Amino acid sequence: MQAETTAQEDSGANAPRYDLRQIDCDPNFWYPVAWSRKVRPGKAFAARYAGQPIALIRPEYGPVYALEDRCAHRQVPLSKGVVDDKGCVKCCYHGWAFNQQGHCVTVPYLNREDVGRPVRAFPCREKSGLIFIFPGDPALADSVPVPDIAQVGNPEYKTRQFNPRLKCHYTFMHENLMDMNHQFLHRRQMGSITARFLGQDRGENFLEARYSFARTAGNQPLAEALIFGRHHDLEGREQPVEEVVSIRTTYPYQTLQIHDKDGDLIMDLWVCYVPLGETQQITQAFGLLSVKKPKWAFLLDLAWPALGLFTHRIFEEDREIVEMEQAAWRELGGDHNIEVFPVVRNLRTLLATHGVPNRYAQPLAATAQATAG
Ligand code: FES
Ligand SMILES: [Fe+2]
Repeated sequence: MQAETTAQEDSGANAPRYDLRQIDCDPNFWYPVAWSRKVRPGKAFAARYAGQPIALIRPEYGPVYALEDRCAHRQVPLSKGVVDDKGCVKCCYHGWAFNQQGHCVTVPYLNREDVGRPVRAFPCREKSGLIFIFPGDPALADSVPVPDIAQVGNPEYKTRQFNPRLKCHYTFMHENLMDMNHQFLHRRQMGSITARFLGQDRGENFLEARYSFARTAGNQPLAEALIFGRHHDLEGREQPVEEVVSIRTTYPYQTLQIHDKDGDLIMDLWVCYVPLGETQQITQAFGLLSVKKPKWAFLLDLAWPALGLFTHRIFEEDREIVEMEQAAWRELGGDHNIEVFPVVRNLRTLLATHGVPNRYAQPLAATAQATAG
């Protein structure tokens, strides 16, 4: 059974005016660029956002900060430098030292400071085991909240971090997770299950779709049973599965929550798709998957590796697909999608209206717009 497609969608007045894969992420949000644990005290670390190299610097004492990863002198990466006892980063080449604001405070062989143009400093925050930067207008940073990743640190949940790199535009990732009509792809991992679309909610900056699932053949995988509890499937009959899966894009982040039949939150996934390259066709995902601990929490610890393998296998199937979608876009020179599911059409509109056309984007002709929907 396919998901119902009865929900309302945009009339077209707000339809995207550009090819969706040429829409960059809005930089005026907080984006994770590294796990906290990777940036050690007294060290610098190389990260990237949309073609911009970023040096994350953690002094021995005090908060981590972010600079453009190019020395003002000869543009070699500051992340190759050393962090001095004042918390400044000293470039590895001639030892110019830069402070948290990106100002050069020492040129060792001239005995002077302030050599003119500073390196760019990015607002930087640390939360939930992630280091976030604000790549847009720094004046806006304080007015935009760093995202809440609800179950991280909640002792009732066990959380797994993951950060795969994908050769595709971030919009393919939002579509892939939001569109639960692709369970056919995962039939080898999960057996034959079909999605039932229960409804959607929309707001200025979000879209949420809810589904339940029914198993039509095959058995419940063990790892799935560990999260949801064992379903008592009857051989050969379509089984209702009572959990509700809610997928929500709250621009620019995405979450997937599963509530059991009593309304308890049993799984909570938060993910941010961070563009790495200038045209944003390579994505670094930062994900946190929290699973509610069962009554005997050690059971979840025991099952953890199997659960990891199960989610990894499913993810690898999705990865192959989204990378093939991106390859087709490149070969065809644009988006030829025929999108029929109102939720995904609405998602495309959300992503297109909140993002920023890149420098190669040309407004679509009216006929092409209808196809690209
Ligand atoms: S290149 Fe950085 S100090 Fe010379
Ligand atoms: Fe999938």
